Amino acid sequence: MTGTELVAEASAAAENAYAPYSGFRVGAVVVSQDGRRFVGVNVENGAYGTTICAEAVAIAAAASAGVRKIDTLAASCIDAEGPGYPCGNCRQMMVEFEVDRVFVGGGPDGPLEYALDELIPHAFRL
Ligand code: THU
Repeated sequence: MTGTELVAEASAAAENAYAPYSGFRVGAVVVSQDGRRFVGVNVENGAYGTTICAEAVAIAAAASAGVRKIDTLAASCIDAEGPGYPCGNCRQMMVEFEVDRVFVGGGPDGPLEYALDELIPHAFRL
């Protein structure tokens, strides 16, 4: 699938985001090395710190199915003006599962593509 297709799938997933507090709906799609796809949305909570990000949910779904190596992650915030970049925590989660490339929706000319070390240089690895 192309970056455009994956970001479109992430945007469709974002319609199911549970974001009553921020109004910032995010969707993410993870593609495993063996081609399986997993979606996630942000799920907010009245105890704000309990909120989980869309990318984290998608990565957790993939990990729960046994995935240990992620090929691609696409993220889309359907309420952002411009690109909805993944937060630092989500970037660190991507490091753990060795994401090869990241597509971010909302770019001026379509999805923006990054290698993970562009998004999180000098990442922590245990
Ligand atoms: N959010 C994500 O889903 N992913 C990110 O990478 C950054 C932030 C969500 C969390 C919260 O529900 C809303 O966006 C506003 O922070």
